[in-house]
Amino acid sequence: MDYNQTQNPIWGNRFSSTPDEVMIKINGSIDFDQKMYSQDIAGSRAHVKMLHAVGILSLEDSITINDGLNTILLEIESGAFSFSGTLEDIHMNIETRLAELIGPTAGRLHTARSRNDQVALDFRLWVRDHIDYTSKQLKQLIRILLEKAENHVDTIMPGFTHLQPGQPITFGHHCMAYVEMFSRDLSRMKDARERMNECPLGSAALAGTSFPIDRSMTAKNLGFREATRNSLDSVADRDFALEFLSAATICCTHLSRLGEEIVIWSTPQFSFIRLSDKFSTGSSIMPQKRNPDAAELVRGKVGRVTGSLIGLITVMKGLPLTYSKDMQEDKEGLFDAAQTLDLCLTAMSAMIDDMEVNVQAMYTSAGISYSTATDLADWLVRDSGMSFRDAHHVTGQVVALAETKSCELAELSLRELKSICSFINSDVFSVLSVESSVSSRKSFGGTAPENVRQQIAYWKSQLK
Ligand code: ARG
Repeated sequence: MDYNQTQNPIWGNRFSSTPDEVMIKINGSIDFDQKMYSQDIAGSRAHVKMLHAVGILSLEDSITINDGLNTILLEIESGAFSFSGTLEDIHMNIETRLAELIGPTAGRLHTARSRNDQVALDFRLWVRDHIDYTSKQLKQLIRILLEKAENHVDTIMPGFTHLQPGQPITFGHHCMAYVEMFSRDLSRMKDARERMNECPLGSAALAGTSFPIDRSMTAKNLGFREATRNSLDSVADRDFALEFLSAATICCTHLSRLGEEIVIWSTPQFSFIRLSDKFSTGSSIMPQKRNPDAAELVRGKVGRVTGSLIGLITVMKGLPLTYSKDMQEDKEGLFDAAQTLDLCLTAMSAMIDDMEVNVQAMYTSAGISYSTATDLADWLVRDSGMSFRDAHHVTGQVVALAETKSCELAELSLRELKSICSFINSDVFSVLSVESSVSSRKSFGGTAPENVRQQIAYWKSQLK
């Protein structure tokens, strides 16, 4: 980065001394906002096209400017462009280079716009592009989860509350819970995109412009639904960034929960899954270790994404209309959050794809700790007309008896069961297995394999 303390070529004329070294340092954003170079150039192109269409810019000038912008795009993409720290940001770096390339005509590009609407546009375009990218990644993760679910609609595992065994479920059903969560994330991204899809360019510094511009044309050319309706709001609004960060934070929270489950499932105590060597790390001292570092990092990285959300909310709170330089703080956190979300989604998709499911361990674990006690209580209600509360008490006594005898519910004799409740007959044994428990949960949204198959089919059709 070139940090020569020269006068700024764009406004330097008004100033008698060059900026202080620390001023350049605190004021500059080029180190991070150069990421938006293609959005900046796309915005300028659309602006030039419109300026020509409404008669503000001659055909010749518009061609000259466009050619210059094309050259700059190539220079940046090939790494030949030299960014200057003195020129503060991507907008002035590009405009200054344009002047070097095409001379004074470059000065016509900034007619009827300001850096305030320019940055509002560039950042919006960047976030919009990234939402499209994130949506593709989310769909990929959902596809991988659907495939796992499909392979394991009949794989019985314990369902937990308080991380204590509750009722048997299937691993397919568990995967589908995450399909629901990531589908909501996808729809949050879609909502945010729809709301942000308005073009701020042409709002100029804050009040609009006296030039007869056609903002709808610019909006259309950049793929926006329409132009924003209030010039003040256009340059002061960063809701689109906050909405992306909110959606990203919620998505990372989901990823973090799944990361935690992978950590738990892969412990030797659970042994529900095994990650291959590709997704395990060893220990420098304990030779036997296989650590699920990627899952732990996905669990942990939600912290920095949440941090970016809180950071930007805090920056925006209390800012008077319209633009204030504080708002330049919108980018680094969001770029970091976007990169983090990208990494976490990629890593999670890869881990889910990689994991080997230990069907036997899940099955064995599903039956322990009287996980079908609810099925016994439900049976009493159905079979003897008892109220659920009474059935709950009776079942509690049955569990206590099994506990003192250190046996499973199904291992108690009919005589022992009858000693607690005379209504009980031998039919009860048919509901005590984990298989019958799972297949009986046929209420809409329940874990029965036939339900889960329907849910898989539903989400597959939604993804198309
Ligand atoms: N680099 C600035 C930012 O990111 C661009 C807008 C500057 N506008 C201004 N009035 N100084 O916010």
